[in-house]
Amino acid sequence: MSEPVHVLGVAGSLRRGSYNAAALRACRDLAPHGLSIDIYEGLGALPHYNDDLRAAGFPPAVEDLRRRIRAADALLIATPEYNHSVPGVLKNALDWASRPPEAPVMRKPTAFLGASTGMLGSVRAQAHLRDIFVFFDAPVVNKPEVFIGAAASKFAADGTLTDEPTRAILGALLQALRDRALGARSRVLAQA
Ligand SMILES: Cc1cc2nc3c(=O)[nH]c(=O)nc-3n(C[C@H](O)[C@H](O)[C@H](O)COP(=O)(O)O)c2cc1C
Repeated sequence: MSEPVHVLGVAGSLRRGSYNAAALRACRDLAPHGLSIDIYEGLGALPHYNDDLRAAGFPPAVEDLRRRIRAADALLIATPEYNHSVPGVLKNALDWASRPPEAPVMRKPTAFLGASTGMLGSVRAQAHLRDIFVFFDAPVVNKPEVFIGAAASKFAADGTLTDEPTRAILGALLQALRDRALGARSRVLAQA
């Protein structure tokens, strides 16, 4: 029996009624056996990346983010699309998490999803995110791809994800993330 896989979920939106945050909460309920999801809520408290701050010692909010990523077996990122790309608040968090020493996001197994009120469900933002994670040398789940378009029609007013096909594909994504994380863990053990 494998050890449980602990996932840190990050939604790239600060909006109270965020569809991306709601999708992450749905993932928590849809998680397969052996996978648990904690949701990071600190995105809005992170300072803007400033290398002078880094040189003086990571601010406490940044240390907390870095510690939580380091402790997780995998990341699950739900991104909105802002102007065809990743929202600045999400990029800011990734920039903080990518700095040495022991940059916690490097080689971290990761899966993406995204929700948008438009039809394309953040497809362009996710393409950019994938490119960023190439630099992180991270084993990213390639399939399924999860683009939650027309998000307003797929969530109830209280944020519950009501669209069954979306619930099913999120379940498949989480299973694939679990496989990625277990694969990365066994490679580390084999090298030890
Ligand atoms: C500054 C800004 C830019 C946006 N640009 C896009 C875009 O390029 N493509 C798109 O599909 N939606 C775009 N949207 C709409 C967002 O996808 C939509 O507001 C979404 O619900 C935001 O995610 P959230 O619900 O998690 O906050 C934009 C919204 C904002 C505020």
